[in-house]
Amino acid sequence: MSEETITQATISSWGTVPTAKQVPRPPIPDASSPLVQIRLLASGLHTLVRLRGTGTHYSASTLPHIPGTDGVGLTVPDNQLVYFSAMMLPAGGSFVEYLNVPRAAVTPVPQGGNPVQVAGLVNPAAASWMALATRVDLSSFKSEEKKGFSVLILGVTALSGTVAISVSRLFGATKIIGVGRSASKLESLRQDLDETIQLSMSRSGEDNTEWTTAAKEADVVLDFLYGPSTLSLFRALGTEKSVQYVQIGSSATPSGSMEFPADVLRSKDLTMSGSGPGAWSLKRFAEEAPKMVAAIAQGGIKEFPGFREEKLTNVEAVWAGSGSGAERVVFVP
Ligand SMILES: NC(=O)c1ccc[n+]([C@@H]2O[C@H](COP(=O)([O-])OP(=O)(O)OC[C@H]3O[C@@H](n4cnc5c(N)ncnc54)[C@H](OP(=O)(O)O)[C@@H]3O)[C@@H](O)[C@H]2O)c1
Repeated sequence: MSEETITQATISSWGTVPTAKQVPRPPIPDASSPLVQIRLLASGLHTLVRLRGTGTHYSASTLPHIPGTDGVGLTVPDNQLVYFSAMMLPAGGSFVEYLNVPRAAVTPVPQGGNPVQVAGLVNPAAASWMALATRVDLSSFKSEEKKGFSVLILGVTALSGTVAISVSRLFGATKIIGVGRSASKLESLRQDLDETIQLSMSRSGEDNTEWTTAAKEADVVLDFLYGPSTLSLFRALGTEKSVQYVQIGSSATPSGSMEFPADVLRSKDLTMSGSGPGAWSLKRFAEEAPKMVAAIAQGGIKEFPGFREEKLTNVEAVWAGSGSGAERVVFVP
């Protein structure tokens, strides 16, 4: 009998474009195994997926690399619709038609959940969700006297920045200030935000951003940009106002580094942390995953209209094309 083969995206050398290969289908684990087989329905081409493919991300170190970090699929053989994370071994990557993952990495998708929306949104939603669930102390804002808290989203026009609006509201934020560089994109988000601020930084480093009082007094800062705009905000912060800052992404800083003057730390009441695998454990992620999946499936997190469905066999051409902006690719094998 000939062996069944399946399509798998494979990166053989860091920084190169993945190719679609035919590989043997993995054996189906038996019912007592800690692993379960998934037939892939949808998997998002997140910023993290592209970053891991360069070989510079701390979570990917073995070649050949199977890109993809998570997705939505059907369990084999019982056809249950689930979200899964593929970052734990043995899967290694989700851009493959069938894969075996630990049962602990699998979360049922509630009825009505759209596979493409769930596959495309859990990663961007996790950016702010895990930050607010694990890296920020919100207990003082839940007391009688203090009603809610304010959040400043630095990089609100990023997909994960936009999703952070819904997530912050779910966590009880009563005021959300969205900050970004594109006036038109800020305008399109205005109805969901209490305030918008346009970054104004010249190439020569001149900073004319007008930080409002609400921005200077924000309780929580979620930063997707890092770099000059982060420093500009830190300098503007009120001196006696405590601020919880979470570093989430570095879209504005390809090097990932920024200058951080000592006097800024000394002169502000700033508590700094970061959010990503490592800052929280995969076990902690697994605890939050069902809540994130439910929030997406049931509309607590707004749908993203810009997902573009692509076949896994087209991975090479799609990967080489542009990947950010108003559109985001979700592979559907
Ligand atoms: N830690 C986590 O758990 C986690 C999870 C998901 C994502 N992330 C990280 O979060 C970041 C955003 O990811 P994403 O996929 O949401 O991004 P995205 O949708 O690709 O958007 C990138 C954003 O960066 C903005 N940008 C780029 N250069 C800029 C500059 N010089 N000044 C100001 N804005 C600039 C773009 O502005 P325009 O809109 O004007 O083009 C765009 O809004 C990435 O670093 C990603 O790795 C982290």
